[in-house]
Amino acid sequence: MAADRAKPVVLITGASAGIGKALALAWAREGATLVLMARREVELEAVAREVVNLGGQAFTFAGDVTKDATRRALVDFALEKAKRIDVLVNNAGRGFYAPVRSIAVADLEHVFALNVFAPLHLTQLCTDALARTSGTVVMVSSVAGIAVTPTLGAYSASKFALEALSIAMRAELAPSGIHVLVVRPGPVETEFRENALRRDATGPRGDKRQDPAEVAKRTLKAVARHKAVLETSLFVRAASFTARVLPGALRIWNNRQAHREHL
Ligand SMILES: NC(=O)c1ccc[n+]([C@@H]2O[C@H](COP(=O)([O-])OP(=O)(O)OC[C@H]3O[C@@H](n4cnc5c(N)ncnc54)[C@H](OP(=O)(O)O)[C@@H]3O)[C@@H](O)[C@H]2O)c1
Repeated sequence: MAADRAKPVVLITGASAGIGKALALAWAREGATLVLMARREVELEAVAREVVNLGGQAFTFAGDVTKDATRRALVDFALEKAKRIDVLVNNAGRGFYAPVRSIAVADLEHVFALNVFAPLHLTQLCTDALARTSGTVVMVSSVAGIAVTPTLGAYSASKFALEALSIAMRAELAPSGIHVLVVRPGPVETEFRENALRRDATGPRGDKRQDPAEVAKRTLKAVARHKAVLETSLFVRAASFTARVLPGALRIWNNRQAHREHL
């Protein structure tokens, strides 16, 4: 069935859990049509039922976003089912905790395939559709996309790469009427820590985690306002400010942290 033109059509990767699921539910409350993508079919179907109960419409697509053929099939599926795409949310991602000496190139390739190559290619595939709707690309980055700390070098490298691509993309896609929003959450209450790749590192630190529903609410507002960057909490804004304006202070904190953890 074609989507109702008054409501946005939103394609979300990593929609079976965590921030992606929270985004789906927040958009469902606005009556949006969701194209929900992730690997776990049962979880995706459960999210789709919640979307419908909240007043939205949902189509599910189970697959691995790191696969080229899956990404192409996903975009074809979205356009066939919903007829258009107003918002593409590149959310699927994975953490990686390891001191630099323990980073294996194969692990880094795996993390980049999910955190960088998949969002890049999916955005390329959706550009024409997004130009037709003057739509928005949401890149879910991280506080690690602006501030680097010990054992998070590899994860940060992937999010820095995503941020760099987003900066160029924002300028290049603007003439087509496409907006690019980078979202930088700090620690959020999801399965992210359990799902992260770890090599010789216990990380992450700190226990204060943001509610994914709050991240979602702020993201929807930022999309509506065509914001370029959303830092989702005071913690992220403080860390981001320190990294950009007081990099020496962050270096001192990092050196102490590395020393304390015997890295
Ligand atoms: N939670 C945090 O503290 C935090 C902080 C900053 C930034 N972030 C970023 O926020 C985003 C979402 O993370 P989250 O916290 O919601 O993590 P999460 O709870 O682990 O959820 C990750 C989502 O991505 C999906 N996914 C993983 N690999 C996939 C693949 N190969 N193909 C398709 N889908 C895949 C997972 O579903 P399946 O397993 O069903 O595929 C799941 O829906 C990530 O980009 C992450 O880097 C998170």
